[in-house]
Amino acid sequence: MAEIIIVEDEAQAGAIYARCVADLITAKPDAVLGLATGSSPLAAYRALAGIVKEEDIDVSHVRGFALDEYLGLPLTHPESYHATIHRTVVEPLGLDPANVHVPGDVLDGAPLADGERVAAAGPAYDAAIEAAGGIDVQILGIGADGHVGFNEPGSSLASGTRVKTLAERTRVDNARFFGGDLDQVPTHCITQGIGTILKARHLILLAFGAGKAEAIEETVEGGVSAFCPASALQLHPHATIIVDEAAASRLRHKDYYRYAYAHKPAWQGI
Ligand code: F6R
Repeated sequence: MAEIIIVEDEAQAGAIYARCVADLITAKPDAVLGLATGSSPLAAYRALAGIVKEEDIDVSHVRGFALDEYLGLPLTHPESYHATIHRTVVEPLGLDPANVHVPGDVLDGAPLADGERVAAAGPAYDAAIEAAGGIDVQILGIGADGHVGFNEPGSSLASGTRVKTLAERTRVDNARFFGGDLDQVPTHCITQGIGTILKARHLILLAFGAGKAEAIEETVEGGVSAFCPASALQLHPHATIIVDEAAASRLRHKDYYRYAYAHKPAWQGI
């Protein structure tokens, strides 16, 4: 089972992620970070940027691979995940942009109709991750429908990076980034598959707020099912799920998760 850590707020979750990743980079200066967009990881990125600055950690060799990207948005579009990752991670942390990759980089706005090019991008991305030696720590958010990356319910739990159709609920949730205009939200994306995500050596999933409570319950205490793609984390040997009280509210074994974390030996880390 994954380790469940119930925290007070996003800042506390961010500090746990940041300490873990800062220690990793100190031990392995060319660490490979798996990166997510969305609101859940923002406090974690801020905390990591703070530690990197305070402790003067050299991040010039750190490499990064993002989870996903909208299809059909040029890299320069402010809501492309290429632009978002650069704004929220690359710049604040001071990473070398040449070391950070997003699945749609080679497509740069190519439309879904550009079949051959679009279809080739996924396998090429998985090959690039493998050539980098695999992802050391992958940060994840979770959709209210249980998606991770853009693997919507029904996604193969063995999938590699590929093109997917976004669920209507995800498009509605994300319309807030497009001035509330649903028509501006792309219908397709390219995303690391669940199989790709499971290859990362450590997964850290963050979820905050009551809107995530049902998805967290399914993920942690439901059966492993493509119906809730995040439930595949149960198959991973090193998955850490950090949630606030609201996101944890439907968990039946909360007391045990709290007890286990409180009694964890300090040498174990997360
Ligand atoms: C983002 C991603 C998505 C989000 C999820 C939650 O790269 O892959 O799975 O993590 O939609 O989004 P937030 O964090 O905005 O609630």
